[in-house]
Amino acid sequence: MILAPSVLAADFGRLAAHAREALDAGADWLHIDVMDGHFVPNISFGAPVMRGLKTLVEETNTPFDVHLMIEEPDRYLEDFAAVGADLITVHEEACPHLHRTVQAIHALGCRAGVAVNPATPLVTLEEIAPDLDLVLIMSVNPGFGGQAFIEGSVGKVRRCRQLLAGSGSRALIEVDGGVTPANVRSLTEAGADVIVAGSAVFRGDVADNVAAFREATVTRA
Ligand code: DX5
Ligand code: ZN
Repeated sequence: MILAPSVLAADFGRLAAHAREALDAGADWLHIDVMDGHFVPNISFGAPVMRGLKTLVEETNTPFDVHLMIEEPDRYLEDFAAVGADLITVHEEACPHLHRTVQAIHALGCRAGVAVNPATPLVTLEEIAPDLDLVLIMSVNPGFGGQAFIEGSVGKVRRCRQLLAGSGSRALIEVDGGVTPANVRSLTEAGADVIVAGSAVFRGDVADNVAAFREATVTRA
């Protein structure tokens, strides 16, 4: 399991130091939640804040996993690539020309992901699946950290695994929203490769929290 802490839940007053705690504890990626107040009813931060984390990710060789919850993401892809994004994920619901957007992300040298909201059916990804590096299944309605996990997401992950296999896609499956050590195992068993966690990593002791995720997903003989 790849663990991608969402810095949305970190202490912005000491963002890089708090993010470093998660990486020191063994987290794999850093997840960057960009919200525009239009696509989702909340504003978070953009590329300049990511730049503040650039030294940390370069030093530690950490993939920067950017989740754009914004309208017209095509306008900003270059900005996010310029501050070191490794993966850029856009929302299916925000992209009328999704194929073009995915191509634009690849042309910038980044891996491309597509996110689907809880009410968006997976069938919308059927045609694009072979071109994707990642599918992000939202397990809450995007916009805020700390929301309750939507149980139906486990079945959606399982169906996504089948869809990807059927289309010959090698895309990773990422799950985002309300994931905790208590429900993570059901997701990895259903086929999730990447787990995003905000509050469950940054609230309380970060090292203990990361360890709890590892413990919950460890396979014993
Ligand atoms: C939701 C964001 C998530 C969120 C996860 O809009 O995309 O990444 O920050 O936070 P938790 O783990 O607290 O649900
Ligand atoms: Zn996210």
